[in-house]
Amino acid sequence: MRAGEWVRLTDTKGRRHNFELVPGKRFFSNKGHIDHDELIGRDEGFTVTASTGGEYLVFRPLLSEFVVSMPRGAAVVYPKDAAQIVAMADIFPGARVVEAGVGSGALTCSLLRAVGPYGRVMSFERREEFAEVARKNVDQFFGTPPGECHPNWELELGDLQVALPARGERCDRMILDMLAPWECVDAAADALYPGGILCAYVATTTQLSRFMETVRVHGGFTEPQAWESLVRDWHVEGLAVRPGHKMIGHTAFLVTARRLASGQRPPRKTRRPAPGAYGPDYTGPRPADAPVLADDSVTD
Ligand SMILES: C[S@@+](CC[C@H](N)C(=O)[O-])C[C@H]1O[C@@H](n2cnc3c(N)ncnc32)[C@H](O)[C@@H]1O
Repeated sequence: MRAGEWVRLTDTKGRRHNFELVPGKRFFSNKGHIDHDELIGRDEGFTVTASTGGEYLVFRPLLSEFVVSMPRGAAVVYPKDAAQIVAMADIFPGARVVEAGVGSGALTCSLLRAVGPYGRVMSFERREEFAEVARKNVDQFFGTPPGECHPNWELELGDLQVALPARGERCDRMILDMLAPWECVDAAADALYPGGILCAYVATTTQLSRFMETVRVHGGFTEPQAWESLVRDWHVEGLAVRPGHKMIGHTAFLVTARRLASGQRPPRKTRRPAPGAYGPDYTGPRPADAPVLADDSVTD
């Protein structure tokens, strides 16, 4: 482990401390102190004892650990969802990926890893202070030398729906993590190659609905698919084998849809919408073939 790298110390109760290794500096806790110089130059994966006897396990943080402990500007995409995005939005080595907003740069790190040395990630962020946090986090995680940028990454300040068309860039995959992803559907349709994937990460059901209906109304995408993932830890000790007591209840919903070739439309739906789905109370984007049904036609 070298000076300037991040290290993660875990105590016997599972409490974690992450910090940057700085020669001459000391780490303090209620279990005493540890000199950074004791850690610098060693291979990770060892136990260190603090000055008053507390023991810590020492490793470099994994990406999944780094993103939940790094400095944040905006909320991050959690590792379980980043994994889903990489798999279900089919982020492949060599892909050209557009993402917005960059927020704290958590998802950016997963995307950069997945596209590999021949791919490209173009990140758009409308807020300068968040872009700065993201740049620092990405540089820190990949160990980018000071004054340089990750060779496969470009970060542009601005609204995606304005800045991307201005550049005229095309892409294979687009990931939207923002408050109003439906505002970017036209820009996504123009930028994505046929067969490309549009993926949105949205926190609420109202966002989910509006985004999916906007994609449907656009008409240049396949039927959008929505899902969420729930992850539960298990406690396994002798005969005590049970689910853990705590779990992250909700992070966000994911939606994907594939871009059709220019001028193409998805096949006409043979199944009618659920009764009342687009009834008088529905005020969102309305697919052309959605019937307006009277209230009394709504059934369970
Ligand atoms: C939840 S954060 C993104 C977090 C990020 N995916 C991560 O994992 O760290 C949402 C970000 O989108 C940015 N944003 C919202 N609308 C945008 C747009 N139209 N174009 C670019 N950035 C946008 C916001 O400023 C905010 O930083």
